[in-house]
Amino acid sequence: MKLLWAACALLVCCWRASASTDPTVIASPSEVNNQTTAVLSCNLTDSSRPIKGSFWLLNGKLVKDSDSTASVPYTTLHLEKINYHTAGKYECVFKTDPNVTQTIEVKILPHVSAHKHSEHGNENDKIVLVCDSHGYPFPTDWTWIKKVENDFEPIINGTTAKYEIKSTPNKTSLTISDLSIESDVGDYECSGTNELGTNSDTIHLRVRSRLAALWPFLGIVAEVIILVAIIFIYEKRRKPDEINDDDDSGSAPLKSNSTTNHKDKNVRQRNSN
Ligand SMILES: *[C@@H]1O[C@H](CO)[C@@H](O)[C@H](O)[C@H]1NC(C)=O
Ligand SMILES: *[C@@H]1O[C@H](CO)[C@@H](O)[C@H](O)[C@H]1NC(C)=O
Ligand SMILES: *[C@@H]1O[C@H](CO)[C@@H](O)[C@H](O)[C@H]1NC(C)=O
Ligand SMILES: *[C@@H]1O[C@H](CO)[C@@H](O)[C@H](O)[C@H]1NC(C)=O
Ligand SMILES: *[C@@H]1O[C@H](CO)[C@@H](O)[C@H](O)[C@H]1NC(C)=O
Repeated sequence: MKLLWAACALLVCCWRASASTDPTVIASPSEVNNQTTAVLSCNLTDSSRPIKGSFWLLNGKLVKDSDSTASVPYTTLHLEKINYHTAGKYECVFKTDPNVTQTIEVKILPHVSAHKHSEHGNENDKIVLVCDSHGYPFPTDWTWIKKVENDFEPIINGTTAKYEIKSTPNKTSLTISDLSIESDVGDYECSGTNELGTNSDTIHLRVRSRLAALWPFLGIVAEVIILVAIIFIYEKRRKPDEINDDDDSGSAPLKSNSTTNHKDKNVRQRNSN
């Protein structure tokens, strides 16, 4: 009984599907892989509904100059230069009621780039190396390799406390702890892989000694000490001179001046009297 019902439901379903004349869009090609140029085209197979035009979307955003009011059941888009800006999910949209759309994915190798190609850290500190990915699709796998004089050493997350890798589809970061001048200086390569292949970029890491990091501070301390010493010596040498100055030239004329003034006053007073 159950089986019969199921069969009936299936039949009704099929009949409905064939009866409704849903328009379909045939896209050509259905997908673009690893190409530098392409011509995308869409063909609306059922044009029984009025078409008010068409346009194209890239990742949901209108492609510039693609909006058309031509009431024809086909549309094409020329991609002159496919790179990480222009790869993505393209959709052709026919302006009918309702709109009908079809998707064409334009895929390229991931574009991988380091935030900085040269980094430097201090001994015993930690440092974070970062690489980004652009384009479509994003990498599904990220790897880090350490290169020291033609020696390639894959970095496996979680094997030691020294390394920690954190990855999202569009970004990966490698944290190196307890930096050492002897073992951590070198080139670090990040590689992103999507279904089409792999691309990579390299970061050169330098490590400064702890003392080198202290140099600017030591410089300031030394400057202050020298300055204080100079002032101290200068003051010590100046003091005896000043006392002498006061004795023979500083106070003597003052006294004589004051006495002459007194004399003058006396003279004037006498005169007034
Ligand atoms: C659209 O498809 C029809 C048949 O499916 C074909 O005859 C026609 O040439 C196509 N038009 C374009 C512009 O591709
Ligand atoms: C159909 O496309 C038009 C743009 O011409 C837009 O304004 C409208 O919202 C779309 N309708 C649907 C149902 O997506
Ligand atoms: C690496 O390991 C850490 C902790 O062990 C974890 O949080 C992180 O998600 C791991 N990264 C990857 C890429 O697996
Ligand atoms: C990376 O992906 C996250 C979410 O997955 C998104 O929020 C962010 O904008 C993306 N960054 C770039 C540069 O595409
Ligand atoms: C895409 O092209 C690159 C070289 O540009 C090649 O290494 C890779 O194998 C190609 N991928 C596919 C799927 O053809």
